[in-house]
Amino acid sequence: MKAYRLDSYPEGNDFAASIALVDQPDPVANEGEVVFTNELLSLDAGTRMWMTPRTDSYQPPIPLGSVVPGLALGRVTESRAEGFAPGDLVRAFGQWAEKSVVRPELSGLVKLDTSVADARQHFGALGMNGWTALVGIEDVGRTKAGDTVLVSAAAGATGILATQIAKILGAHVIGIAGGAEKCAFLTEKLGLDGAIDHRGDDVEGAIAKAAPNGVNVYFDNVGGPLLDAVLPNMAHYGRIAICGLIAGYAEAQPGPRRFDQILARRLQVTGFFSPDFMDRGPELTERLKGWLDDGRLVVPFEETQGFENLLTAYAKLFTGGNIGKVVVRV
Ligand SMILES: NC(=O)c1ccc[n+]([C@@H]2O[C@H](COP(=O)([O-])OP(=O)(O)OC[C@H]3O[C@@H](n4cnc5c(N)ncnc54)[C@H](OP(=O)(O)O)[C@@H]3O)[C@@H](O)[C@H]2O)c1
Repeated sequence: MKAYRLDSYPEGNDFAASIALVDQPDPVANEGEVVFTNELLSLDAGTRMWMTPRTDSYQPPIPLGSVVPGLALGRVTESRAEGFAPGDLVRAFGQWAEKSVVRPELSGLVKLDTSVADARQHFGALGMNGWTALVGIEDVGRTKAGDTVLVSAAAGATGILATQIAKILGAHVIGIAGGAEKCAFLTEKLGLDGAIDHRGDDVEGAIAKAAPNGVNVYFDNVGGPLLDAVLPNMAHYGRIAICGLIAGYAEAQPGPRRFDQILARRLQVTGFFSPDFMDRGPELTERLKGWLDDGRLVVPFEETQGFENLLTAYAKLFTGGNIGKVVVRV
């Protein structure tokens, strides 16, 4: 089978120079393992952080010479673990390969609801992005009706869900995204109350205009200069839910420069990480599915056909080439 092997740590977005598409033997399940054919792969920004030698992040670096790990969905071909049988449709933290081999207890392996019309939603609204958005907006941000909520990378997989969940909870929601097309999508298609183009606008001034009474909840996917633009615009006693810091994944960023505003505005800044609430998956999925079925959550997909095109698709997360969830159909 074909697999993507990390041979060196990438510079910037030049993934092809560091990640090789190689042939290797098909995996065989050892005792306690399950093998499944990858039909869809979820491409996630966080993986970029483990493609660096940094040892101070929430995951250790991917060992050089190993296959890149990633969320995968497909049918079981071989099982030596209780509860899984050939033919089951499953999702797990597997590998960027044509097949994944996993241990259920280490990979979050679950059997999926086959009645979901679009299986990609098991990565979007009904998977890690949906859970992260819901927990970040509701539990970490403690969003309530009438709050002003600001979301960065708002047109991406996690952000798009965070904005819509905040709307469902009755908030006034503003998204930050790169470019006029994404901003128009957020206001015209998703009905957000405002959108700020971080490539074009004076972001700090634009937030001040869009949120004259301050931002109560900032769902941050980006960090870096955007966080500096948001801090002086936070309302007193505001909450910042640090979901991701994509501006600093290839190279860690110093800062935030406006750290003083955390004291001045009595802010609460909280990092959170989806593996910490994996056990809440069924409960979170049920709520998200209710909203998805009612048409209150919309998740567009940026789907790439063909395993051989994965690295080009992956770069879109860092160049802003996607609206919604980036997936590869193997
Ligand atoms: N804490 C957790 O458990 C958890 C779980 C899932 C995801 N995350 C985090 O959520 C964030 C989004 O991840 P995702 O996988 O859903 O990707 P995504 O939002 O679908 O794609 C990433 C988007 O980030 C924006 N971006 C990239 N570099 C940027 C920069 N330097 N400044 C401003 N915007 C930039 C781009 O949109 P623009 O065109 O708008 O710039 C891009 O489309 C990441 O930080 C990720 O690590 C965290």
